[in-house]
Amino acid sequence: MTQHVMLTNSQPFPEKFSALVPVNAKQRSFSRIGAMTLGTAIQRHLQQEKASFHTPGHKGRELAKSTNSLLQADLTELPGLDELSNPEGVLLDLEARAAKMWGSAGSLISVNGASAGIIAAMLALTTERKKFLVPRNAHRSVINAMVVGGIEPIWYEPTWDARWGTWGAVSPVSARKILSTCKASEVAGMLVVSPTYAGAVSDIASIADSCHFRDIPLLVDEAHGAHFLPDACAPSSAVTCGADLTVHSLHKTLSGMTQTGMIHLGESPVFRIDIDLLRAQLNLIQSSSPSYPMLLSIEQTITLLETNGKNLLAHLPHLRGRLEDSLADCRRFEFYTSRFETDALHICIAARGARAEQLYDFCVERGVFPEAILGQGVLFLMGIGTVTEDVAELAKVLLDFHTQNPETGSLADDGVWHFTEIEQVLSPRQAFMSPSQMVPVHEAVGRIAAECVAPCPPGIPVCVPGQRVHPEVMNLTSVKKIRVVREQLTSE
Ligand SMILES: Cc1ncc(COP(=O)(O)O)c(C=O)c1O
Repeated sequence: MTQHVMLTNSQPFPEKFSALVPVNAKQRSFSRIGAMTLGTAIQRHLQQEKASFHTPGHKGRELAKSTNSLLQADLTELPGLDELSNPEGVLLDLEARAAKMWGSAGSLISVNGASAGIIAAMLALTTERKKFLVPRNAHRSVINAMVVGGIEPIWYEPTWDARWGTWGAVSPVSARKILSTCKASEVAGMLVVSPTYAGAVSDIASIADSCHFRDIPLLVDEAHGAHFLPDACAPSSAVTCGADLTVHSLHKTLSGMTQTGMIHLGESPVFRIDIDLLRAQLNLIQSSSPSYPMLLSIEQTITLLETNGKNLLAHLPHLRGRLEDSLADCRRFEFYTSRFETDALHICIAARGARAEQLYDFCVERGVFPEAILGQGVLFLMGIGTVTEDVAELAKVLLDFHTQNPETGSLADDGVWHFTEIEQVLSPRQAFMSPSQMVPVHEAVGRIAAECVAPCPPGIPVCVPGQRVHPEVMNLTSVKKIRVVREQLTSE
């Protein structure tokens, strides 16, 4: 799948190209170094924020009553408190409750987010074969897994929505095609990101069938879809649709503290992945001092789901519907929908005749904080803690935007650009471990990257170790320097 790029020049590209990379508040508001402490900055933010449409999904609301303060709960492996690296007591019970909740054949807790879950899952799958089918919208933790495990990517493209400038779902047809062109005996697994950052959900059941037909395990990065639970009016989870391994963040749409996640073995995995091996891989990369407040928040999340949580989740698609209804009359806003299924909690909105940055800034100034600018739209992320008042506030701010910024055109439909040509010269590990140097971005163009550049959120790489740095990288990131391989090593 590696394609070759023509490196003709390093001229600047039109501004519209920069819309490929999601932009968040960090990149848009520059706080001067030394101007304030983190504590003050958090306090200031909390004073400004009227409604949260970003992670974490609890939205700062205590959804489950806690008997302990966070500091009281900040304990360690004391008698009765179990040990996450080899659980035999309360933490093993918690994992069993998670397995029941998501319908898995076994679930493991991550206190280093979906990131650690993805790395552990990829390492567990690549003990023999070393190649992995990786989508262009893979999270940067996938690149880290490739560096740690010496895994070689076979890049493939999910659907690209040019109108919105965002990656979409993987169609079952293209999955079949991709799988049929690879040498199955060398491929350790296929990764699919579903839902995507914009909320596009892939048909995992079909893709799993195609993978298994070719004797290839399927790993689904469902970091943004931990709320895909039965009875919650959500798409079906990859866990029950045939994926062999599924990874969740518990903090994006659910109420886990930031950095909580899970790995699930499929309900009836075709590939029997040894759960002890998976735990060993997780122990390799995550802290040996797991945070008990985080573990407690995982328990509270599961307790919430076992009690009232699914009702809270089931309400969210209705809130989205109400938002759409309240904006319908002004005919100004478009809501992103995937060609396939779209998750209701990911609300990506574009205002006709206005740039996404304008809409983003307007919302922030009025105390409604979106998750990110995503292509032509602004992503507003609901979570289990979202309430009716949040959505009412969002509707009000959007209608104000419409009144104060008269429409001057249509949603740009000339397509937000992305580069299809990538040249993977060295494996990510070879490049990462090579002698390297930092150079200004314009000097890096045409050289072999030795690091991953992936603006966060959502952490989709625009530059991967071992790839020749594409000229457009200059327009896709705000970093000033990139680490490149010192000598132009070749893979032969
Ligand atoms: C698609 C995707 N996968 C994985 C991750 C990593 O999740 P976590 O923040 O829980 O480590 C993210 C984070 O933004 C993501 O967007």
